[in-house]
Amino acid sequence: MVLRATFAAAASVPWSLLAGGLLGVVLLWAAGWLLDRLWWQPRRLERALRAQGLCGTSYRFLTGDLKDFARMNQEAWSRPLPLRCHDIVPRVAPFFCNNIREHGKTNMSWFGPIPKVTIVDPDLAKDVLSNKFGHFEKLKFRALFKLITDGLLNQDGEKWAKHRRILNPGFHLEKLNRMLPAFTACCEELVSRWADSLGSDGSCELDVWPELQNLSGDQAERVMKSFQKIVIPGYMLLPTENNRKMHRNNKEIKTILRDIIGKRIQAMREGESTKDDLLGLLLESSMRETGTSGQSGMAMTIEDVIEECKLFYFAGMETTSVLLTWTIVVLGMHPEWQDRAREEVLSLFGKNKPDLEGFSRLKTLPVLMIHHCPDIWGSDVHEFKPDRFSEGISKASKDPGAFLPFGWGPRICIGQNFALLEAKIALCMILQRYEFELAASYTHAP
Ligand code: HEM
Repeated sequence: MVLRATFAAAASVPWSLLAGGLLGVVLLWAAGWLLDRLWWQPRRLERALRAQGLCGTSYRFLTGDLKDFARMNQEAWSRPLPLRCHDIVPRVAPFFCNNIREHGKTNMSWFGPIPKVTIVDPDLAKDVLSNKFGHFEKLKFRALFKLITDGLLNQDGEKWAKHRRILNPGFHLEKLNRMLPAFTACCEELVSRWADSLGSDGSCELDVWPELQNLSGDQAERVMKSFQKIVIPGYMLLPTENNRKMHRNNKEIKTILRDIIGKRIQAMREGESTKDDLLGLLLESSMRETGTSGQSGMAMTIEDVIEECKLFYFAGMETTSVLLTWTIVVLGMHPEWQDRAREEVLSLFGKNKPDLEGFSRLKTLPVLMIHHCPDIWGSDVHEFKPDRFSEGISKASKDPGAFLPFGWGPRICIGQNFALLEAKIALCMILQRYEFELAASYTHAP
């Protein structure tokens, strides 16, 4: 007994020393890694960028420009714009406006320890987006964005290429044509609901934004809240209230989707035709992909399909509802354009349901996301002037390729036809039934 105890005591000393030493080495390595990522690497990158002639803000430890970014947003967002003002960039992106003023059109700033180069030249932007030089990767905050989606938008390399190949056919015009009845049914439901709200004078005041938005708002808002803190390593693992709620939301959304997908696959196995909606097309394309690759089982796993569904839910609904809301706001500001758009819709479709063939003949219903650089668009860039697009997008600006609302290159928005079709149907059906104007209580704060 005594001997054994002595042996144990003697042996425990080197083991605890070894463990302590090992812990010390690991801590030292982690501290060195952190210091390099948060200080030396940004400093090296800053020197390299300045050596290339770039001007911009200097790196500040960990947060970079995030504090200024948040402060300027808060200041700008607290002041609404004068009614009918289309010079929205200083309000929407005050930090970038300020940087361009102070450091020139091509400049650098700091998203935490990550340097950011701002480019206003559309040709340069297209070079980057088409990955002409072959070494641009998407900036990813996987842990955060996974809570919204780990789909196409978040992928790179082979997995991205495979998913893009499977998804592409689902967005061809003839497939979208099959979705037309679903689109029109949703819009019909919306315009009929509004009819129920009309007062005895045939009018009512309505907050359009929540009408066109959907449930995705809550999760997207929470993710934006975390965005400024994501530069802190391991932040997403902290049990903050916002983080816990995002994880709960994510779990709930996944459970609902897994259930829907499971039922649909079961129905397809039992011979039911794929419904003409996005999920049906997604499963159909992915099964067809299996056929060509010759592998058994689906080319996309159920988890992959869930992540793509989440992406379409967030990337699709938020963007299109913003486009529609803004369109209604500007057409409310400019009744002459609203009249022109309604006349066009009525002359093409009367009171009938809009169809795909008619959409190609719409000229006035323009995409209204106007880019804001006077050097490219002319001194009237801040005027609402949809007829600048009357001879086509390429003739609307001095640079024929300057209109990039859906991005460019291989990562160009896969849903652009989908979004425009959805927005045009909704707008046509709203214009067929209603006239609208800004409410007296409207504050212009895009
Ligand atoms: C007004 C509506 C929309 C706008 C302005 C818009 C804009 C964009 C932009 C600029 C990109 C490129 C992002 C980048 O380069 O990192 C993008 C990508 C994407 N969009 Fe859209 N989008 C809209 C609607 C939609 C809709 C309705 C869907 C789906 C139903 C969708 C799905 C996607 C997907 C999956 C990607 C990623 C493509 C890839 O990485 O290969 N978008 N979108």
